[in-house]
Order: sequence, then C-alpha cells, then structure tokens
Amino acid sequence: MDFDLTEEQRLIKETAATFVTKELKPRAHRLDRDAVYPSELVRRLGEIGFMGICIPQEFGGSGADLVSYVVAMEEISKGWASLSVIMSVQNSLVCAPIARFGSAAQKKKYLASLATGEMLGCYALTEPGAGSDAGSIQTQAKRVGSEYLLNGSKIFTTNGSHANLAIVYAVTNPAREKKGISAFLVETNTPGFVVGKLEDKLGLRASDTASIHLDNCRVPLENLLGGEGDGFRIALATLDGGRIGIAAQALGIAQGCLEEALAYAKEREQFGQAIANFQAIQWMLADMATETDAARLMTYRAAWLAQEGKNFTKEAAMAKLFAAEACNRIAYKALQIHGGYGYTKEFAVERFFRDARITTLYEGTSEIQRLVIARKLIRAEEVADELP
Ligand code: CAA
Repeated sequence: MDFDLTEEQRLIKETAATFVTKELKPRAHRLDRDAVYPSELVRRLGEIGFMGICIPQEFGGSGADLVSYVVAMEEISKGWASLSVIMSVQNSLVCAPIARFGSAAQKKKYLASLATGEMLGCYALTEPGAGSDAGSIQTQAKRVGSEYLLNGSKIFTTNGSHANLAIVYAVTNPAREKKGISAFLVETNTPGFVVGKLEDKLGLRASDTASIHLDNCRVPLENLLGGEGDGFRIALATLDGGRIGIAAQALGIAQGCLEEALAYAKEREQFGQAIANFQAIQWMLADMATETDAARLMTYRAAWLAQEGKNFTKEAAMAKLFAAEACNRIAYKALQIHGGYGYTKEFAVERFFRDARITTLYEGTSEIQRLVIARKLIRAEEVADELP
C-alpha cells in the first residue's frame, strides 16, 4: 500500500496551494463579506486547469486522476469553500457525467469549453417537493417533433445563475416513475430557461444558489444525456462522484480549521503562557488532527477506488458522511479555541464554521449517506452494473 502522492498529484497540490496563497487569500475575506460572486477567481481556476481536472486531454481537459481532483479540492477548500463548491459542481456534477454518459458529439461540443472554464455548468435535480427523495421530481419533458419541451421548477442549484449549461433532470414517462426520468443538456440561453430567486445563505456566501424555472424550454433531441429513462440512475451515479468532491471540501475546511487553531493556540497567551500549553486545548487539537487525518484517508480511498474502476458508492457515502460530520466538530473546536475572537469576522474560523454547516446537507444529507451505506451493507448488491 502506497500512501505517497504521485509526482503529478504533488504538482497539482503545489499549484493549488500557490493559487490559494497568492490569489485567493487576498480576496476571499472581502468577497465573502460582501457576498460577491468570484468571477475572476473562477476564470483563473479554468486557466490553471481546475475546471475539468479529470476530463481526458483529447477533450481539452487536464487528464488527471480523481485523487488529483481531491487533492486540489482540499487545497482550494482550505482557502475558501465558496470557490471550491463552484469547482466541485463543475468537475463532479457536470464534466464527469458528460464524459461518462455523453455521446461523442456532446463530448466534442461541451467538454473543451467546460475544461477551460469558458463554459460553467450546473446540476438541476432538486425541486421544492423533491430533495432527499430525488426520484419524486415533477419537471416534465414532453417530446414534440425533433425537440423536448421542458416545464417545471428547480431549486438550490449551485452555479444556477452563472451557468451556461445545465444538466436538467425531468420526467419523460410518468407511468414508469423513477425509470421514466431522463437527463438533458440545456444551454441556459435557451428561451424558457429562467433564473429565479437566489438564496441568501448562512455560508458559502459568494457562491450562487438559484431557483430555475423551465417554461416551455425547447431542448433538441440530441441533447438527451444517455437514453430516455436513464436519468435517475445517471443522477445517482453522478452524485456518487460528487460526494467524493464534497468529502474533499469538508476535509479542506477541517484542515483549515486545524491550522488556524494551532497557530492561534501557540500565539495566544493567558495565565502567563501560550494556551497551547494547556491540556484542555491540546486534547481539542489532538482530536481535530486525528479526525482530519481519518477524513483524508477515507476520501482518498474512495477516489482511488473510483479511478481504479472499482465499486465505490458505499465508500464515497462513508467518506462524505464522516468528513462532513467531523468537519463540523472540528470547526466548533477551532472556534472554541479562539474564544470570543473566533465569533468575530476578523478570524477565518468564523467563516469556516458557517461554511462547514452545508457539508452535511448538500449532495445528500448525512441521513441519506447512512441510508446508502446501510442499503449496501444489507443488500450487498452493485446497482450501477448496467451503466457504461
Ligand atoms: N448509481 C447508479 N444507479 C443507482 C445508484 C447509484 N449509486 N443507486 C441506486 N441506483 C439505481 C437503482 O438500482 C434503481 O434502479 P432499478 O430500479 O433499475 O433497480 C434506481 O437507481 C432507483 O434506486 P432506489 O430505488 O434505491 O432509489 P430511491 O428512490 O430509494 O433513492 C436515494 C435513493 C439514495 C435516497 C436517492 O434519492 C438520493 O441519493 N437522494 C439524495 C439526493 C441528493 O443527494 N440530492 C443532492 C442534489 S445536488 C445538490 O446538493 C445541489 C448542488 O448543486 C451542489
């Protein structure tokens, strides 16, 4: 067993760390405070190859493996989770399913522009009445001649108001229930694709979370992703990979909290000495470091399984469950070590604390991860066998 990063993975980690230090950190605090979408940083992520890390080079991507993506996500998230969620949706929820399920023409048309960041993607699954129960979506897609006519509403769509391309899940055959759901590549300048309300959120203040209304939105037949009726399984297979991205995001936030808390504990003096000398603080730091390390091992293992073409649904859910829950415990302790100062916007732990909270919610709540894990344990089946 080899726990070392490869030369390429090390290089990607260094590239990400340099970007965070030189370009991200000087801007993140202000952009987060003012809830400003970081267009310039997103453009730079495209330039350094982080908007399509795993897209094969023949389609204009970096052609790196999934562990490289996780390494990059961890570093960017340590800098600023508002930016890393934009990157995560682009890589995991948009590029990956097009690369896996797209036709040759769809890959040729979209992957290169997604990889450079010239095109931004979003994943439109959730609806007001269909969150954890994603199979109960109501958006309809009716075939009319050479097009599908899409009607319905989506919510909580990360990148929704800035995206050029949306993967929209809609029902093509209501009689078949979950097997009647299909996935569509929808260019967002299509008439009838309307961006609605933007959420005012606790954390991830600078990433946009939008409602989308589909009002007789006409999508050409060739923009069906996979076959008719494959949509729900494409959505779930995509989320398996997405959960590795969010586990890496939680890991990055946790590592950021640990580093901030450690530095503060060594510098802050009370009772005539650095608070790092007190066992109460040491035990918190030790638990934070241990849980961060466990989250890292689980997340890297899930990514490795996926890149080796092995089954990874359960391990991705476990990594996401553990990393997200641990990240919240770690953010709590980091703020506690900072005392009252940690509750102010002057210290990064205040932002980490707010950003950590989403990781147990999106791309499947912790309860849904437990459901996925338990079903795998009990049924011991591999459901994704028939998918390419
Ligand atoms: N890969 C491929 N196929 C899968 C699969 C997987 N991981 N898991 C299940 N399937 C297949 C099943 O085999 C089944 O197919 P058959 O009928 O042919 O056997 C089909 O999909 C339906 O499976 P289930 O009956 O198990 O589905 P379910 O209705 O019980 O739901 C669930 C399963 C796990 C609860 C699922 O609904 C789920 O993951 N819910 C959470 C949704 C979620 O994560 N939403 C986040 C949206 S994105 C976001 O957060 C916003 C953002 O922009 C970041």
